[in-house]
Parts: sequence; C-alpha cells; structure tokens
Amino acid sequence: MTPFEYLRKTEKKRLDDLFRFLSFPSVSAKSEHKKDMVACAKWLKAHLVAIGFKTKIYPTAGHPVVYAEYLVDPKLPTILYYGHYDVQPPEPLELWKSPPFKAEVRGGYMYARGAHDDKGQIFAQIKGLEAVLKATGTLPVNVKLVVEGEEETHPSHLPAFIRKHRKMLKADVVVVSDTAQFSRTLPAVTFGLRGIAAVEIFVYGPNRDLHSGSFGGTVTNPVNTLCDMVGKLHDKNGKVTIPGFYDGVKPPNKWMKNQFRRLPHSDAKYKKSLGVSALGGEKGFTTLERAGARPTCDVNGVTGGYQGEGHKTIIPSMASAKITMRLVPGMDPTDICNKIEKYLKKIAPKSVRVKVEKSGGAKAVVVPTDSLWLQAAKGAIKKGFGNEPVFMMEGGSIPIVNDFKKTLGLDTLLIGFSQHDDNTHSPNERFRVKDFNNGCKTAAALPEALAKVEV
Ligand code: BES
Ligand code: MN
Ligand code: MN
Repeated sequence: MTPFEYLRKTEKKRLDDLFRFLSFPSVSAKSEHKKDMVACAKWLKAHLVAIGFKTKIYPTAGHPVVYAEYLVDPKLPTILYYGHYDVQPPEPLELWKSPPFKAEVRGGYMYARGAHDDKGQIFAQIKGLEAVLKATGTLPVNVKLVVEGEEETHPSHLPAFIRKHRKMLKADVVVVSDTAQFSRTLPAVTFGLRGIAAVEIFVYGPNRDLHSGSFGGTVTNPVNTLCDMVGKLHDKNGKVTIPGFYDGVKPPNKWMKNQFRRLPHSDAKYKKSLGVSALGGEKGFTTLERAGARPTCDVNGVTGGYQGEGHKTIIPSMASAKITMRLVPGMDPTDICNKIEKYLKKIAPKSVRVKVEKSGGAKAVVVPTDSLWLQAAKGAIKKGFGNEPVFMMEGGSIPIVNDFKKTLGLDTLLIGFSQHDDNTHSPNERFRVKDFNNGCKTAAALPEALAKVEV
C-alpha cells in the first residue's frame, strides 16, 4: 500500500477525526474557554500518540503547547512542523448557517470555526505523516511537531517556549500550513508575510455622559474627535499620514513585482466577490501589491456612545478604537507603535485626554525562494494538487515565523491549502474537502521530497 492509497482508503475516518478536532471551542482570546483549550490539546495529544508519535503537553503561562516527535535517525534531515489549535471567536453567531463547532459538509466544503485556520491545515500535515507511517512503517525524515494555542491572540508565550526548548526543537527546516493557495486551480508557496503592530486608543472627554441638549456645543465630543483623528490617519491618496511611517520601507523589488504580475488576478472579479463597487487603498500599486507588499493602518473595532435601540441624546464621556497596522520589511512594530502614539497625541485637541495602549507585534517575513527545501516542497505540492505552485506574498501575519529564524536559525516553508474566500476569521469559515484531501496528499509526499535534500 502506498501513502496515497492509505489516504484514499481512510478518507471517511480522516474527516470524522478532523470533525472531532473541530468540535472543541478552542477560542484562545476568551478566558471562559480555558478548559476547552486544555481538552482540545489533550485530544490532539491522544490522537498523535495513537499514530505513533512520542507526545507531550507543555503547560505555559497561557495555553498549553502540544509537542510531538518521531525520530528515526540523526543522519536524516529533521523537519519541524508548526500549527495552531486555537481559533478566533466565532461571533457573530447569528450569521452562521450551521453551528461553528459542529462541522458540516455542504457543497464540497466543510464549515466550522478552525476548518482551515488552522486546525484543518495542521491536521492535513498530521494525516499525511500518518499515511507515510502506516504505509511504509517509518518516516524518511525525523519529525518534530509544535501545535500551539496562542497564535490568534495576545500575549503569546510561544517565543519564550521556543527559547527555552531550543535544543529539543533543533531541526533543519520548518513547515507551516497556515496560508492560502492563490486560487482554486493554483496552489502556492508563500514567500512573504506582512508583520503587524497593534494599539488601542482611548479618547476621554467629560467625566460622565452628558445631555446633548444641555451640554451640546459646550464641550468636545470624544466620539466626534476619535472619528476625526481616525480620518487623519490617511491622506486622499490612501497613504498613511503618521510621520515616519514609511521610513525604511522596502518597496517590492523587481523579482517580486514580476511574481505579482504573473498571477492571474482580476480586479473586476475581486470587486464582485466582495460586493463592493470600487476598491480602496494606496494609489500607485496593484491590488496584489497592496494586499501583500504595502503597509496599512486599519481600525478593527470602535466603541463609544449609545449603540442600543432607538436614540439616546448624549455627549458620550469616552470613545475608543482598536487599530492594527500591517508591516512590510524594513518596519519595526515597536517603532511604529511609538510613531502612531506620538501622532495621535499631537493631532488631538486640548479639550480631550488621549491614552494609547501599545501591544507591539511582529516584523514582516520574507523567506528565501532559491533553497533546495523549497524546490522539494514545490514537488510535493505538485504531487498533491496536480499543479505547479506559484510564488505569492500574503497580507496576513504568522508572528512566530520570525522566532524560528531568530531563535532556531531556521527558514520556514509556507505551504498553505486554503482559499482566500474561505471566510477566515469570519462567520461560515470553511475548507474545501478537495483542498483538505490534496493537502493531505501533499503532506504525504513532503517527507520523501525533503529527505532527498542534502543537509
Ligand atoms: N493563518 C493566519 C495568518 C494568515 C492569514 C496567513 C491570511 C495568510 C493569509 C493567522 O492565524 C492569523 O490570523 N494571524 C493573525 C496574527 C495576529 C493575531 C497577531 C493575523 O494575521 O491577524
Ligand atoms: Mn492561522
Ligand atoms: Mn488566524
């Protein structure tokens, strides 16, 4: 039996196993789910043990890390697989067509929170390894596996975990499946990820909500002011106006621009799929460049004043906004947080008090595209999906990839199996069953391909 035959034979069981994994509400951001996080980690550990891995759960100051290994021979290359079992909060629940933690297949897609981000994708890697083990009795490489529970939230204890367990995690290359393909017919290797910097701004006005009839016109309204300040974050060309924001930004180089140009993208289709009549963003760059290779500044959520039914005539006493900025190479999250704080404080009127809470972030990632590891990975993707993958840059962030380089000295292969319209972080998150299965095949072909790389 070949690994692919094993995968074909066990398809139903494999989906059942994944659906069980998806049934844990492992929402890392909310403390009420602490127990679910532990239960999910324990289930995963038991599953890995049953496959034949030596497995251990490491508690951290936050959520536990599941670590597993299958060591064959120190002379063989060692591959470090990384993924996350935590998921984003499923809210708003009323927009889900089926319950977020009860996976359901409709029209060739499985729907559930975590379907592709990242439970479905790390599970594809695990099931690919299982197929090789069951079909051949061993693995052609040494495997180490880290599945963590704090990717989707702050703060993360994983960088400290990696520093502490540097020796245990010694490897030759990292494999991460937590990104998308370019399209339904075009698998991809991601060579760039944007970084991220996060702040929350609070604007305080009068010491309590005031009657907007009695007091309107006499004091500054913090919500009006917050909106005005947010409005001043961009100019009319969509450029971010924070002084020094673009200092050191490396524009996409010729090779990158060329990769972008080769990708079959249509703005018309993109607009249609998103339900917008025109696109926005920074002038002078194509949509793919703006989404992958240019920095941004976005409000993710805003609060202030009355939000209930009907009207309530008040001058609210405060307003706040959560802001994240996506970073490209050359930008530093701490520096960017300091710059936006300084700017927001400068443009605020004297009549309000402004507080900026900075939570830092992560630098952008660019991985080498000429490595033998990457060539090998491309071959495995071709075996799994039938198509040669393209190179692309992703707008999303996977902060820990920086630490793999900095702490362990390792490059990462970003080979993702999802689609950009799979509703990541959104209601009705999904994963095409075919993409999952082809992902499992890729994962089953990967060890042999990587085994051939000389270390
Ligand atoms: N898997 C995503 C990152 C991603 C998203 C890669 C889209 C490629 C395309 C990851 O789980 C994620 O959501 N990361 C967060 C990081 C943040 C919470 C620090 C992100 O990008 O917002
Ligand atoms: Mn993810
Ligand atoms: Mn995510």
